[in-house]
Amino acid sequence: MSGVLSVTGLRARYGGVEVVHGIDFDVHEGEIVALVGPNGAGKTTVLRGISRTVRTQGTVTLLGVGTHGKDAASVARLGVGHVPQGRGTFADLTVLQNLRLGLLARGRAHRRHGDADLTRMIDMFPVLGEFLSRPAGALSGGQQQMLAIARALLARPRVLLIDEPSLGLAPVTTSMLFRTLRELRSDWGVSVLLAEQNARLSLSIADRAVVLAGGLIVHTGPSAEVAESGELRRAYLGSAAEQAVTR
Ligand SMILES: Nc1ncnc2c1ncn2[C@@H]1O[C@H](COP(=O)(O)OP(=O)(O)OP(=O)(O)O)[C@@H](O)[C@H]1O
Ligand SMILES: [Mg+2]
Repeated sequence: MSGVLSVTGLRARYGGVEVVHGIDFDVHEGEIVALVGPNGAGKTTVLRGISRTVRTQGTVTLLGVGTHGKDAASVARLGVGHVPQGRGTFADLTVLQNLRLGLLARGRAHRRHGDADLTRMIDMFPVLGEFLSRPAGALSGGQQQMLAIARALLARPRVLLIDEPSLGLAPVTTSMLFRTLRELRSDWGVSVLLAEQNARLSLSIADRAVVLAGGLIVHTGPSAEVAESGELRRAYLGSAAEQAVTR
């Protein structure tokens, strides 16, 4: 398997305070990697560092190309889709217009699959099909999250960075999303880096997991092994999400 995304010595700070302290990991072609860890571990910051929406030190390589000095738009063009924590839609545009923005962002090679891909996204999240002409801002939080995910996928990214999708979605919708992500990695060639506080949930779909605590990687390995590991339990000990690894 080749590396689609490679992170080496990544550090990030807000103001004068460093919150990610030099971490290394890879995402291989077609892999789903879960980035797990308790509240404040640095998961969101790592995703932002990769998409260049926060400034970082260290090296991030996407399909062999370094992102150093590039802005977020250039990194998106390299094939990174980022669904941020919370909502990521254009509230004044309709659902369909939001989805079309995703289609516009895709490379030339995939332009002719646009209609079929749009249908697939609506099969995954049928409520979007019902509300195509509504302004995105009129949707519920969970529906806006579905829209943000569908829009990011319609750009046909090579790597999808997705931040806490389960927070805004009903369990049945999260299951549908995860099932579709597993299909899309072979059908569309999408690799996924999934940040989730809910370790139990994300380990159930990921191939491999990276456990982050206090801005450092404390464990990494195949999901089944990480799920049983003492490091995972220790990382969450005393945190609000402890039940996500102990139940
Ligand atoms: N905009 C910001 N300004 C200052 N500090 C921040 C900012 N965003 C995050 N931090 C701090 O950086 C650290 C890492 O936060 P981050 O949001 O990356 O963690 P997380 O693992 O995504 O947490 P959660 O599970 O709550 O989403 C925390 O200590 C947090 O308080
Ligand atoms: Mg976060």
